[in-house]
Amino acid sequence: MPSAASIVARSYPDKIIGIENALPWHLRTDLQLFKQRTQGHAVIMGRKTFESIGKPLPKRTNIILSRSEPAFLKEFPALKWAINPETALFLADVESIISGSMKFFVIGGDQIYKVFEKYINSIFVTDVYCGNINGDAKFELDFGRKDDEAKTEWIIRSEDDFPKTEFDEYPFRITHYVRRKPFHRYRVKEELMGREPDFAALLERYEARLEQAESDQLDFFD
Ligand SMILES: NC(=O)c1ccc[n+]([C@@H]2O[C@H](COP(=O)([O-])OP(=O)(O)OC[C@H]3O[C@@H](n4cnc5c(N)ncnc54)[C@H](OP(=O)(O)O)[C@@H]3O)[C@@H](O)[C@H]2O)c1
Repeated sequence: MPSAASIVARSYPDKIIGIENALPWHLRTDLQLFKQRTQGHAVIMGRKTFESIGKPLPKRTNIILSRSEPAFLKEFPALKWAINPETALFLADVESIISGSMKFFVIGGDQIYKVFEKYINSIFVTDVYCGNINGDAKFELDFGRKDDEAKTEWIIRSEDDFPKTEFDEYPFRITHYVRRKPFHRYRVKEELMGREPDFAALLERYEARLEQAESDQLDFFD
């Protein structure tokens, strides 16, 4: 199945990601990169994060997790509602196979990052150098070395620094981490068959692409 990726911006060093259901900063460049990285893929988010954004993210299948049917579904019929994490993963898999995408993104907030943490193989973390700020949502995953013996679970693929500008309230750093041992998810084909469009043909093409990516040694977990 497609690989789970994620993307988050958090304060450094306190790891705050939100306050009163809003982002604590304005970082235009970071948002532009978020858009570039996630467009064309399915995105999974919590009901509260959707409400903080206020509308579906364009050019992405928006999957919203909520334990009860959200009232805003009527206003935005293109949204996909998932009542539990398993349904969210299933919808992300189906949408990724239809669009031919090798990955989907978990985009928050606090609760949803925790729910999907174990599946994430690739994550872009923006450390925002805003000093100590107040917040009520955090992303506390630690990517550091736990002890000298053990190898880190995460490898740094890239690190890029961005200055404070007219459009970016604080300087920030984006680090791309990939899991040393990717988490693979599988489904039995029968789960997907009998759906529209014709999944037999779609799956065949999708499997061929996965195999091609592997034989080309392309990193489709990025
Ligand atoms: N800085 C960043 O990169 C970033 C990214 C995203 C969000 N944020 C911030 O994070 C904050 C929101 O985070 P949050 O933790 O409060 O809310 P959230 O994770 O966005 O959404 C929580 C909601 O998701 C649903 N949910 C959670 N676990 C579920 C499960 N197992 N099954 C079904 N539904 C489930 C529940 O909805 P119901 O109550 O409807 O059942 C729950 O109230 C905001 O401040 C936002 O701005 C920051």
